[in-house]
Amino acid sequence: MSTPYSPPELTIAHLSDLHLVAPGTLLFEQIDTWRRTREAFATAMAHEPAIFLVTGDIAERFHEIRPAADELLQEMADTYRRTIITIPGNHDLQSDFTQSVYVPGGTVGVAPSSAGVTPASAPGDHRGTVPLGEARISYGPEPADSVFETAQLRVISLNSHGYRVAQGHLTDAQLEWLSAELGRSDSSALQQRTVITLHHPPVANPYIEMRNIGLRGQQEFADILRGAKSAGARIDAILCGHYHITQAASIADVPVWVTPAVAYQGDPTVGRGRVRGRDYGFVSLIRFAEDRDYSALAIKFAGAGAELFDREIIRELLP
Ligand SMILES: [Fe+2]
Ligand SMILES: [Fe+2]
Repeated sequence: MSTPYSPPELTIAHLSDLHLVAPGTLLFEQIDTWRRTREAFATAMAHEPAIFLVTGDIAERFHEIRPAADELLQEMADTYRRTIITIPGNHDLQSDFTQSVYVPGGTVGVAPSSAGVTPASAPGDHRGTVPLGEARISYGPEPADSVFETAQLRVISLNSHGYRVAQGHLTDAQLEWLSAELGRSDSSALQQRTVITLHHPPVANPYIEMRNIGLRGQQEFADILRGAKSAGARIDAILCGHYHITQAASIADVPVWVTPAVAYQGDPTVGRGRVRGRDYGFVSLIRFAEDRDYSALAIKFAGAGAELFDREIIRELLP
């Protein structure tokens, strides 16, 4: 009888919702989200994560943050000698995502149209594969869809769109690609510790006013997870942002962690039909023990809870 594969322990730093504003300005005229993002990386790094995942809303809507955001993320990758994988959120322009993976000291990991990566065969074709030491990065159908693989970990990142609309979505091509990636039978892929990241949670927000702002098509997404699992795939966790609250949930018996935001948090004590933001900055640590055990921890590192806004809900302008 063979011994089941047991990957070593591993910590992932999970950051989300940076809401970077145009350099020289402040979010809600109060928060320096660039400084806060640096603090978030430093806070998480004290726990020696193997990798950083940033699950969307890199920008605050309508703020031009590139190329400064690329420079900051590359600086963090270089300073901490860790790979950083990012995906867009509903505040981010798709066209900003010419790069989504930042590797220490490297130009590999940029999108396939850039140097160092197999060129795509046609504009908008984001498929391609690059060797990266012991890691491998490949790309899926939409900008910032990526698979990052090492011997210990596979991260499948999905662009869930949603710019200026109430919900996120995945295209049929993305769902097919996800299904194929989860079902890959080469090497040890089926037994590899696997994490899926997307901005919009594929589960409802328990905060009633924000119930319908997650991923559209949650049932289809669940069916793909179930199908992959019944074919033997291992899916350890789904990591999301967007809700600006702390939430643990599950879909198709896979744990879902919704990390609170780096920039600010929602306040569920606000009255019906309203939304209120408070000044708190959080990061999460996702810890895998040697076996399959998973745990998540949210760490507050900034802010004293001052009210940032309190207004009626406008669905296209949600977190
Ligand atoms: Fe969002
Ligand atoms: Fe956000």
